[in-house]
Amino acid sequence: MNYKEHFNRLTEFLSPYEPLWNREILENYPQTMEVYNTAWIEDLAQLSKEDLWKFDCFADTEKLQDKSLAQMMNSLTDLTKLDFFTYSSKRNFPDWAFRKVKEKKRHEITLITALINDIQNSSHHSHTTDIGGGVGHLARVLAHYYGVKTKTIDINKEFQISGEKRAKSFPLPEGANELEFINMNFLGESDAKKMKSVFPEDSLTLGLHTCGTLANAVIETHIKMKTKSLLNFGCCYLKMNPDSDTNLSKYSKENKNLYLSNWALTLASRGYASMDFKQYLLKERVKSFRFTLQLILDDIFGGPHFISVGDSHSREYWGEFSDYAYKKLSNLKIDHDYDLKKLQDFYDNTDTQKKVKEMYLGNIIRWQFGRALEHYILTDRCLVLEEAGLKVQMKELFNESLSPRNIGIFSTLS
Ligand SMILES: C[S@@+](CC[C@H](N)C(=O)[O-])C[C@H]1O[C@@H](n2cnc3c(N)ncnc32)[C@H](O)[C@@H]1O
Repeated sequence: MNYKEHFNRLTEFLSPYEPLWNREILENYPQTMEVYNTAWIEDLAQLSKEDLWKFDCFADTEKLQDKSLAQMMNSLTDLTKLDFFTYSSKRNFPDWAFRKVKEKKRHEITLITALINDIQNSSHHSHTTDIGGGVGHLARVLAHYYGVKTKTIDINKEFQISGEKRAKSFPLPEGANELEFINMNFLGESDAKKMKSVFPEDSLTLGLHTCGTLANAVIETHIKMKTKSLLNFGCCYLKMNPDSDTNLSKYSKENKNLYLSNWALTLASRGYASMDFKQYLLKERVKSFRFTLQLILDDIFGGPHFISVGDSHSREYWGEFSDYAYKKLSNLKIDHDYDLKKLQDFYDNTDTQKKVKEMYLGNIIRWQFGRALEHYILTDRCLVLEEAGLKVQMKELFNESLSPRNIGIFSTLS
């Protein structure tokens, strides 16, 4: 892939829609809604619930009337298409290897270890160092079932103690290699000798779902320590600092680039995984409650007043709006003169329903930009690696419906 070209295409495509993806509709309604194309909103409004679900979750544009919306969606799909990493074979593990490991993690580990096994077979590495390895499931499978010497680093001592205990609880297969737990704050480690022993030049640097800027630090370490290879999957971009953690490459600094607000970073972290129709209906209900509550908050405060209100249990969304809203306002300790009847009347009001529906449709349009924003962040990381003289591949590995943050960056000395 030509990363400069991809970066330019993303920048060009995303720029005109900047007011949509960089701002959350709730934040400053009704001004935030003004940037949405009315024809697009009207087009989505004529879709049935099923068709809207297909549009939202599967980018299905078949039932759209407005050509420009369909075109925009098709361009987005095109822009965010990636090849998949390939591996020669997946291994079957004994039942206990993944006992109490969730299906998502099992899937990720099965594929990553198969890929690393191929990397190791084609080019020897002294060991793999897994950064932000948590309880060490990935490191354990790699060391014990593939025989790849592995070190796992995490800041959380408790995770590691439980991981060490777990690693000793089951019989080791033949050919198992060393597994070492290193407790370290990776963002603050200044011991050069320690770093040299953990990251020698013939090692592989690994990070599965290194959240926020931890991924940037992993990339920086791979470059600085000149480790032979890197395999990294980022996540939780919303934990990054918009002012310092994006546009890191020289190329992005010297060319037209995008400023990603906290709202945009949150959007890039979205689970774009396909939801079934039942989950979609719950999402619709959750949004309609939240948007109506925002209109009430704006009314109470006499103007736009965004507050984070937190999620409720799904059963509360299938109850009365008035109960949900009354509880939220009480929890937030907000003075108001709404009683239960007034809250429910507000929700049932035709004008409120119209506004909320528009906000919901706007939100669906905005949501579609998440994957392109993720590409923007990751492509910039690829450029950083290329600028350091490394050979880079950005591809998908996991099944996105199981693991939405499925884009990996693989980098080696060229
Ligand atoms: C999203 S979890 C991923 C865990 C594991 N790699 C996985 O995929 O299941 C991120 C991990 O990074 C660890 N972490 C966060 N900041 C860290 C830091 N500064 N140094 C070391 N580990 C850190 C957390 O404790 C957590 O275990």
